[in-house]
Amino acid sequence: MKQALVTGASGGIGRAIALALRDAGYQVAAFGRDRQALAELAEQDGITGHPLNITDRAALRAAVQGLAPDVLINNAGMMPPLVPFPDMEETDLDRTIATNLTATLALTRLITPGMRDRGRGHVFFTGSTAGHAPFANLAVYAATKAAIGGFAQSLRLDMAPYGVRVTEIVAGRVETGLYRGILSADQRAAMYAAGNAVQPQDVAAMVVAVLALPPHVDVARFDILPTHQATATGAKSKDG
Ligand SMILES: NC(=O)c1ccc[n+]([C@@H]2O[C@H](COP(=O)([O-])OP(=O)(O)OC[C@H]3O[C@@H](n4cnc5c(N)ncnc54)[C@H](OP(=O)(O)O)[C@@H]3O)[C@@H](O)[C@H]2O)c1
Repeated sequence: MKQALVTGASGGIGRAIALALRDAGYQVAAFGRDRQALAELAEQDGITGHPLNITDRAALRAAVQGLAPDVLINNAGMMPPLVPFPDMEETDLDRTIATNLTATLALTRLITPGMRDRGRGHVFFTGSTAGHAPFANLAVYAATKAAIGGFAQSLRLDMAPYGVRVTEIVAGRVETGLYRGILSADQRAAMYAAGNAVQPQDVAAMVVAVLALPPHVDVARFDILPTHQATATGAKSKDG
């Protein structure tokens, strides 16, 4: 049976991808911190939960022992408080880079040698439109996602000779828990009002579709946005 490793699988986009890959016949290793959410997910046949803080390098190394995933979904990420950069707490700066960037590269470094040896594999990264266009109050988050985009495209060239594909998911607004603790419930409700957000299952469907393409097709990146946010920085409604 093919194996997949999904980070950030305890909620949002990662959870939807874990379930979709399970449905597509993969044995899924689900990584995240929330033990209860992972335990609930692991009640599904074909999914095992691996609770860990992805920034803990020793825990990460231990968690991948014995795993040989055909598909790696680098999806775990966090959003720091939305403030102008000069007001950002240094701890938030460090935490954002450690989670969104350093841990992602470290995990990819642990998994890609095996993919290269086996001569097959597919690595996905959940990037963001914020890595490809400017947004106020998001400078460090945007920096981590821009770095992920650049890393993914170069990694693709390192891995392509071995039959390993690399895809960056450039996501616009997706309705998840990403802004919990940062925006009020009302602000989040307005943000996710009908039609304003892609659903996690939509992203998961794209991942499954990309994986189903024949081995000679390498989707370097795909952009997935709400129709009303037709560009990264938004589009006018028909009423102006
Ligand atoms: N939602 C959007 O609009 C949007 C748009 C573009 C890109 N993205 C990206 O999509 C990815 C998934 O986010 P989401 O929107 O699905 O938000 P989410 O519901 O908050 O999910 C984030 C996931 O990352 C995990 N995570 C965060 N820090 C972690 C850590 N230190 N160790 C282990 N796991 C950690 C969380 O696990 P625990 O909860 O268990 O800690 C959770 O499973 C992120 O990389 C985000 O930047 C989201």
